[in-house]
Amino acid sequence: MVKLSKAFEGRDIIDINDFSKEELLFLLKIARKFDPDFLKRSKRSNYTIAQGEIAAHLFFEPSTRTEQSFRSAAQKIGMGVIGFNDLNVTSMHKGETFNDTIRIMESYANVLIIRHPEVGSAKRAADIAEIPVINAGDGPNQHPTQTLLDLYTIQKVFQRLEGLKVAFVGDPKHYRTMRSLAVALFKFAKNKIFGISPAGLEMDNQFKSESYNDLAINMKDLDKTLEQIKPDVVYAGRIPKEYMKKKVKEFSYLINKATMDILPKHSILMHPLPRVDEMDPEVDSNPKAIYFKQARNGMYIREALLALVLGRI
Ligand code: NCD
Repeated sequence: MVKLSKAFEGRDIIDINDFSKEELLFLLKIARKFDPDFLKRSKRSNYTIAQGEIAAHLFFEPSTRTEQSFRSAAQKIGMGVIGFNDLNVTSMHKGETFNDTIRIMESYANVLIIRHPEVGSAKRAADIAEIPVINAGDGPNQHPTQTLLDLYTIQKVFQRLEGLKVAFVGDPKHYRTMRSLAVALFKFAKNKIFGISPAGLEMDNQFKSESYNDLAINMKDLDKTLEQIKPDVVYAGRIPKEYMKKKVKEFSYLINKATMDILPKHSILMHPLPRVDEMDPEVDSNPKAIYFKQARNGMYIREALLALVLGRI
């Protein structure tokens, strides 16, 4: 236990691949200490665990859930939060460089949380900063804390992270939460991932393996395809047009009541949110639809992660 806590202290959280299966499971276990589903509110004793520490938010890209749940998580464990989520209020607007912004913000804080549209930006920040840097999304590349909360959600429902059939629906090529989650699920035995997208939006070659199957389809056949796969988890996503370099043929898909009826009884529908028009709000009340719970889990994971990287657990 102590050894695994030490493995997180002072650590940058940049790429989910940097973490062993044991480390991931350890973090998920610690998150339960912050989750009222596992601990009565009155039993919770960690409200001041990171008192005196400051998180600096550097959000160069829009965010609702990630930014606000980190903010909430930090405050729930006694931390203060500084930072920005609108470049127009920073000196970068006057031409200040990325490097200088990182240097300044690190001098005011104990941990940096960064979201930026460029692949590798969080790593760049970590190379400059001496304090821990947490990647809150670097372009179409990775979103490790989303992956942690996705793993936590799956584990909470199925009591395991192995032997699962997971269907990614949308644009696995450009959707960072799917890319990160795929990397994490490959660490656990016997998982099978299906990437369901129109042709041209399959994952890149680095993901090709026995455990990953691309199914390029006409999205009108989504229900039929899901019926054949019988997934345990459907992981849907927005179409991230902002990251598509080449002009891709416009497409859309819809998960509605008919889709939900086709899915196995025990299955769940996840989505990192925000949704645009890919999931009909009529499915929100379906017990298989757990995306709002999923978003809530993000807070517990982030409380655990902040406390760990700050060496407070
Ligand atoms: C996602 C993201 O930003 O990568 N949202 C999130 O963090 N919950 C998904 C998206 O942008 O669609």
